[in-house]
Amino acid sequence: MNKNDWNPELYLKFDKERIQPSIDLVSRIDFDKPEKIIDIGCGPGNSTQILVQRWPDSKITGVDNSPAMIEKAKHDFPNQEWRILDAGNDKIDEKFDILFSNATIQWIPNHADLLRRFYNLLSDKGLIAIQLPLFWDMPLGKSIVRIAENNRWSDQTKGVTELFTIHNSSFYYEQLSELYHLIEIWESNYFHILNSHMSILEMIRSTGLRPYLNKIKKNTDKIDFEAAVLQEIEKDYPLQKNGNVLFPFKRLFFIAKK
Ligand SMILES: C[S@@+](CC[C@H](N)C(=O)[O-])C[C@H]1O[C@@H](n2cnc3c(N)ncnc32)[C@H](O)[C@@H]1O
Repeated sequence: MNKNDWNPELYLKFDKERIQPSIDLVSRIDFDKPEKIIDIGCGPGNSTQILVQRWPDSKITGVDNSPAMIEKAKHDFPNQEWRILDAGNDKIDEKFDILFSNATIQWIPNHADLLRRFYNLLSDKGLIAIQLPLFWDMPLGKSIVRIAENNRWSDQTKGVTELFTIHNSSFYYEQLSELYHLIEIWESNYFHILNSHMSILEMIRSTGLRPYLNKIKKNTDKIDFEAAVLQEIEKDYPLQKNGNVLFPFKRLFFIAKK
């Protein structure tokens, strides 16, 4: 496995927290019998299983540009269709009734183009259903950016924050309303109940923190970077009386029909 690739095992350690947005998004899709569905950025196939449960008779394809994630999906769900594919660039020849994407498009640049590209992948009655984390609105996201800009790490972490593309609801509405007829947009704040500050760090180590850690060369520097993030987590998310920590995680959703 490429050492900078995603780590599916670490990612799935927080599967309970990560899967709820897919359940919520799928529950709001109004489509009786879709023929073909694509899960863009399917990861280890966890979000895809929510689609399979709701529409067991549909042809569902999971695509992801991480070989490690696709390998894990193939291993855990060998009877389903998985493909390694870069959703921002690679050609997709089929059309889909539902284009679903949970917690992925923030890793793909240029969302105006991406939403147009997604539109062109839809059948005549097709829809897109998308969720992305509003990471920069959260105290943790802001702390990571600040720490990465500190002189100690800034040379190595330069450009990493720009790898993420996240806009607000108004931006997405503007893009969607040029193309789609029926649009729904909403936000949810998921209060994850975790048993320590370290758990918050562990939860983001395999996602939002990963590109920063990948850029830091020396192991001791990585350890110090994580320690600085942990210190901010301790300030931003106070311990509850019973020793647990509430970790509010903001997410933006939209569904748009052709
Ligand atoms: C946070 S995971 C989400 C996994 C799953 N959808 C879920 O709900 O838990 C983001 C996934 O997006 C994938 N990804 C990032 N950029 C991508 C791209 N350009 N094309 C396809 N997949 C991409 C990553 O490899 C990763 O598996």
